[in-house]
Amino acid sequence: SRTVSRGANGVVSVGGVDVKQLAREHGTPAYVLDESDFRARCRAWKQAFGPDADVFYAGKAFLSRAVVRWLDEEGLHLDVCSEGELATALSAGMPAERIALHGNNKSAREIERAVRAGVGRIVLDSFHEIVRVAGIAERLGTRQRVQIRVTVGVEAHTHEFIATAHEDQKFGIALADGQAAEAVRRALKLDSLELIGIHSHIGSQIFDTSGFEVAAHRVVGLLREIRDEHGVELPEIDLGGGLGIAYTPDDDPREPDRIAVALNDIVTRECEAAGLAVPRISVEPGRAIVGPTAFTLYEVGTIKPLKGLRTYVSVDGGMSDNIRTALYDARYSVSLVSRSSTAPPMLSRVVGKHCESGDIVVRDAFLPEDLAPGDLIAVPATGAYCRSMASNYNHALRPPVVAVNDGASREIVRRETEEDLLRLDIG
Ligand code: LLP
Repeated sequence: SRTVSRGANGVVSVGGVDVKQLAREHGTPAYVLDESDFRARCRAWKQAFGPDADVFYAGKAFLSRAVVRWLDEEGLHLDVCSEGELATALSAGMPAERIALHGNNKSAREIERAVRAGVGRIVLDSFHEIVRVAGIAERLGTRQRVQIRVTVGVEAHTHEFIATAHEDQKFGIALADGQAAEAVRRALKLDSLELIGIHSHIGSQIFDTSGFEVAAHRVVGLLREIRDEHGVELPEIDLGGGLGIAYTPDDDPREPDRIAVALNDIVTRECEAAGLAVPRISVEPGRAIVGPTAFTLYEVGTIKPLKGLRTYVSVDGGMSDNIRTALYDARYSVSLVSRSSTAPPMLSRVVGKHCESGDIVVRDAFLPEDLAPGDLIAVPATGAYCRSMASNYNHALRPPVVAVNDGASREIVRRETEEDLLRLDIG
């Protein structure tokens, strides 16, 4: 995050608070989130896209009531993909018209709750859902604003993309074989739906803008077909999330203005060529906003040098607070943050305390040879998809999220307690 610095004594501070104090006050492991960095990233996205676009923060990356208030204050919109995320957003006062509901299998209850709350849009993900949302809106006597999520046949990976006709996955309605056009036909016939646009999301942790450009090209192609067939120009397109962040120094992500310029350019150019009014663009970054704003603070426990291999450094958390390494073979870096060291680097693997050999937090890293139990180490870029995917494996208590700002720290999500754990165990 942007306010990290190392003091003369070698102790690292963030948001004006040093990590030893954070560990004393909040314990370890803990996710430490830099509030001013979070807000700065929200503003950078807003500014990059300008007043004619909307930035929906993807709540799945990490959501809490404090985060919802920050988003609200910074003028962002919010994408939720479950009733739990919707409830969190509403309870923190996010205006419903700035919320979008996603999901490939929304329950009738989720849909009804969203329609009753008055969410700004529901993103329809299947033919079944077109009928289901229309039925619920009709019963409630309202007209629901919706987008249709299409799969454009672009599989985006970190540095390259593959353009295909079909995508072999569960989300959205295929552009291929006229599926999406048929979905639009059906949605336009239903009085309780107001079709406001087309949605596309091509993947995650993407560095190159070319996959988005191909997606935008194909979505505009559909808008043109819709205009030609129905005489209707849909006013919005959403190009999803997926912009990558730097997990290690090797990663080289694009800044939001780079992606904003690329998307605006291609949409404007293609719409002008097709004689279409340029639609309002929206995007849904999750990781790119919250990912870099937090690190996980761990205390070093046992240290096991394996001759000729590497040193296993155990920390007081693991796959229960960061499943990404085990699940995706994700890469992270790590640093000693509670003191300085001039000892030579040793090849290390940072592992957790769970009963599983795949319980790895950082696969390959260099830590100083004089590392000792009790030292604090930090794993950066854990703001996205870590707390939100945390588990109670081995009855671990999920760590708190500690927000730091202007020399002060406070828990915005508190540490789980044994009481929390046993509360659900009613047998
Ligand atoms: N919009 C839609 C419709 C999405 O499905 C997603 C992510 C986003 C926006 C936000 O994408 P982002 O900007 O955060 O990349 N658990 C995985 C990531 C799953 C992403 C799912 N959808 C991980 O830890 O890498």
